[in-house]
Amino acid sequence: MNNKDVAGIFIDAGILAESEAVDYVVDKGIDAVLLSEKLMSAGKFFLTREVIEALDREDKIKDIGNVVEVKAASKKIIAKDIAGSVKVHSKAEEPQNTKTLTDFVAYFNDRYEKIKNIILAHTEVKNTMSIGRLNEATDEKNVCVIAIISDINISKNGHHILNIEDPTGTMTAIIMKDKNIGEDTIIPDEIIAVFGSVSNGTMFVNSMVFPDVPVMNSYDKRIEDDVSAVLISDIHMGSNEYLQKVEDRFIKWLKSGDDSAGKVKYICISGDNVDGVGIYPGQKQDLKIVDIYNQYLAFEKFIERIPEYIEIVIIPGNHDAVRLAEPQPSIGKNYFPNITSFKNVHLGPNPCRVELHAMNGRVGVDVLMYHGYSFTKIINAIPSLRVKGMDQPEYVMTELLRKRHLAPMYKSTQLMPSGDDPHVIKSVPDIFQTGDLHSFAVKTYRGVLMVSASTFQGQTSFMDRVGHESNPGKVTVVSLKDKRPKVLDLLN
Ligand SMILES: [Fe+2]
Repeated sequence: MNNKDVAGIFIDAGILAESEAVDYVVDKGIDAVLLSEKLMSAGKFFLTREVIEALDREDKIKDIGNVVEVKAASKKIIAKDIAGSVKVHSKAEEPQNTKTLTDFVAYFNDRYEKIKNIILAHTEVKNTMSIGRLNEATDEKNVCVIAIISDINISKNGHHILNIEDPTGTMTAIIMKDKNIGEDTIIPDEIIAVFGSVSNGTMFVNSMVFPDVPVMNSYDKRIEDDVSAVLISDIHMGSNEYLQKVEDRFIKWLKSGDDSAGKVKYICISGDNVDGVGIYPGQKQDLKIVDIYNQYLAFEKFIERIPEYIEIVIIPGNHDAVRLAEPQPSIGKNYFPNITSFKNVHLGPNPCRVELHAMNGRVGVDVLMYHGYSFTKIINAIPSLRVKGMDQPEYVMTELLRKRHLAPMYKSTQLMPSGDDPHVIKSVPDIFQTGDLHSFAVKTYRGVLMVSASTFQGQTSFMDRVGHESNPGKVTVVSLKDKRPKVLDLLN
C-alpha cells in the first residue's frame, strides 16, 4: 500500500494521522487496517510518528493486540486543570480620522526612530553620520548612514541607483553592478545602514546592514506547564469552498482526549474569519452564506464548539467586516453578538502582539500575529521571492523579519497613519503567525518560529484565476514549553 492508501484507511476510521506517521506505517509495512481498529477500540484518534515509533520499539507492532494497552495510557485533558493567561498588547483600535500630512510625517518619523535604534544595536554600526552633514562634504571615506531607501532604479549598465533619505536630507547612493551585498532584496521605504564613501554629494555603497534578528536569539525555558497553542487562519466561513470536514475533524480531535489535544490551552486565529461580502467582483456566486451577519453567526457556532477551557485569540483580515486600512481594529460586537462576552475569547487588532501564558510573574510566549495583506506586493517587489511564488511564505516572512517591518513598502498595504507605526517589529517575537496566502509553512529563522497558518477554505475559482494553489486543512500545534511544532493534516 502507498501513503495515499494508508492515509485513506486512517481517515475512514476517523483517525488523524501525521504524514510522518503514515510514512512510517508504509515503510515498515504495518497493517494499517488492524492498527486503526485497535487505535479506535482504545479511543485514540491521533497518531504521531513518536507514538508509532514507540510502539515499534516496544515490539508491539507485530502484536497489534498490545496497542490498546499502550494507547490507553493517556486520556487526561491536562489543559482543563491549568489556568490560562492572554495579554493583548496592541491597541484595539486606531481612530479613523481624516489623516493629514502631519500624521504621515509622524508615522514615518516613528518608523525611522524605532528601526534606527534596532540597527544601532549592531556592533559594526558606529560613527553614523547624517545625510545633511554628508551633503556638505566633498570627499569622505568609510561613512555610515542609517537611511530610508526612498527610491530604487537600475541603470542600463546594471547599477542600482538609490535615493536615500534621513530626517536631515536626501542623497543619491550607487551600488555598482554585481556588488552582491544584498541589493536584490532591498525595496522602497525600508530602513537600513549604508556604508561607503561620498564624493561630491554621491555615495558609493560598499556594504549594507539590515535591522534583522540577532543571531543568538533563543527561547528560554520560561513556561513550566506542559501546554500548547494551536495556530490556524483564514477560516472563510460562508464560502462555498468552506471545508466543514476540516472543522469537524478539528473539533473531534480537540475533544478526543488525545495526548496532544489535551494540552491545547490556546488557539490563535490570524484573520479572514469569514469570507465577507463584496470583497472582489462576482464574489456572491462563491458564497454559501450571502449575509455578512449570518457568516459571523456561523463562525460563532464554530467557536462555541471549542471547549471553553481553551483561550481563543481572534484578529481580523482583509475579508473581515472592518476597515482595510491597517492597523485594522478588532472585530466589533455587532458582528460577534455572542462570543464578545465569552471569557475565553480575546479579540485583537491586525497586526497584534499577544502574550500567552504569562504566569506567576514570568513573562509569557510572545506571539506576533499579522494577517499578511502586504505579502503579495512584497513578494512581487523582490525578484528572489517572486521566483519562489506564493506557496512558500516562509521566504517573505524571513525577509520581513530581516527588515523588522510587516509592510516596509509604503504601498504594500493600506494605512491609518499615526505617530506609532504598528508594523515595526520592535522586539523579536517568539512566534510569528500569519495567514492570507492560504499557503502553509512552519520554519524557524534565527530562533523565531514562523507559521503561515493554512486555511479552512478549499481551492477557489479566484485562486485558479491567479494561478495560486491553496494548501488547506493544516493545523499547527506548538508546545509552549519548548516551542516545538507539530502539524495535523486534517484534509488528507
Ligand atoms: Fe484568506
